[in-house]
Amino acid sequence: MSIQPQPDRVIIFDTTLRDGEQSPGATLNVEEKLAIAHQLALLGVDVIEAGFAVSSPGDFAAVRTIAQQVGVPGGPVICSLARAIRKDIQAAAEALKPAAHPRIHVFISTSDIHLKHQLRKSRSEVLAIAEEMVAYAKSFVEDVEFSPMDATRSDREFLYQVLERAIAAGATTLNIPDTVGYSTPKDMGALIQGIRANVPNSDRVIMSVHAQNDLGLATANALAAIENGVRQVECTINGIGERAGNTALEEIVMALQVRKADFNPYFGRPVESDAPLTRINTQEIYKTSRLVSQSTGILVQPNKAIVGANAFAHESGIHQDGVLKHRETYEIMDAAAIGLSENQIVLGKHSGRNAFRTRLQELGFNLSEDELNKAFHRFKEVADKKKEVSDWDLEAIVRDETLPQ
Ligand code: KIV
Repeated sequence: MSIQPQPDRVIIFDTTLRDGEQSPGATLNVEEKLAIAHQLALLGVDVIEAGFAVSSPGDFAAVRTIAQQVGVPGGPVICSLARAIRKDIQAAAEALKPAAHPRIHVFISTSDIHLKHQLRKSRSEVLAIAEEMVAYAKSFVEDVEFSPMDATRSDREFLYQVLERAIAAGATTLNIPDTVGYSTPKDMGALIQGIRANVPNSDRVIMSVHAQNDLGLATANALAAIENGVRQVECTINGIGERAGNTALEEIVMALQVRKADFNPYFGRPVESDAPLTRINTQEIYKTSRLVSQSTGILVQPNKAIVGANAFAHESGIHQDGVLKHRETYEIMDAAAIGLSENQIVLGKHSGRNAFRTRLQELGFNLSEDELNKAFHRFKEVADKKKEVSDWDLEAIVRDETLPQ
């Protein structure tokens, strides 16, 4: 078998259009999926999982259209999910035909609980099916990803055997799903280490992680996987997906950027290397987040890391004062890095005089000390009654307090 060159960066596999669309109520039509796929290409993702071709005529059409229009030479890999079943693999291969870089992603469960209650198959049957279906997918495309579903709750020795067979059958990426979000970072690190130590030829394929967020640990688990040799992360915009969602693309990408010095050594780079660890054009992150939220109808919680409305907002007076003096006092990244023009100082009851004066100056009001004192006093009364004091409120306060009665 051929050796996959190990990337010296993290491959970003975006599954917003597949796992993300599995969020309750988040159905996307073909046009919406296509618009998101174009935006994901601008964002610079390496792989777009465009759908699950066999699941519906709409999904087939979406994978096909994205393969045609976004899967151009030099563009992202376009992927379709497929159960380890012939008809799924055929549908995926057919839908992906127009893509310059097609990938079929074959999965089958490996945990005993899934084997007993869902698949109703023995371990030896699953072993044989995994091998046969990876080989079948390989007869259509060169690039085959294999996922042992519920890997983190699977018997280790059995998992190693399945992975070994998948590699022998031609899988080029081995993806390790924490399907029910049960893992902790420590478990995840140990699991990846165990696979690398016990699965022959696992160094010849690209290891990947797919972390669900049931315990809020998806991004932490993906980072632990990277520290232990994983070079592809499956993620979604805004972290949407089945139940509590997936690793959020914006979180994993910005964590790798902000903490690059800590991660560089895992990639054999000098600590001080400034080369990015992903190919993501981070300035497209905010725009992509808005597009996905608008298209799916899933609102982004205000305190969501990186893309939430409050992610760069400072309400407390001490914080506002600090940020106005030097941004890095209370910000670990620049809002401009994700495509926002500037941080937003939200004026509220905890805001201090400095933030108040600065905002008034931005609004074009240059008050005397006496006028400022009166206006600030009035502002505090208003702020006690309202969560946020808008520019409109500020204008009214200044008018009331400074114009002759
Ligand atoms: O959560 C999961 O196990 C999946 C696989 C198909 C990768 O979505």
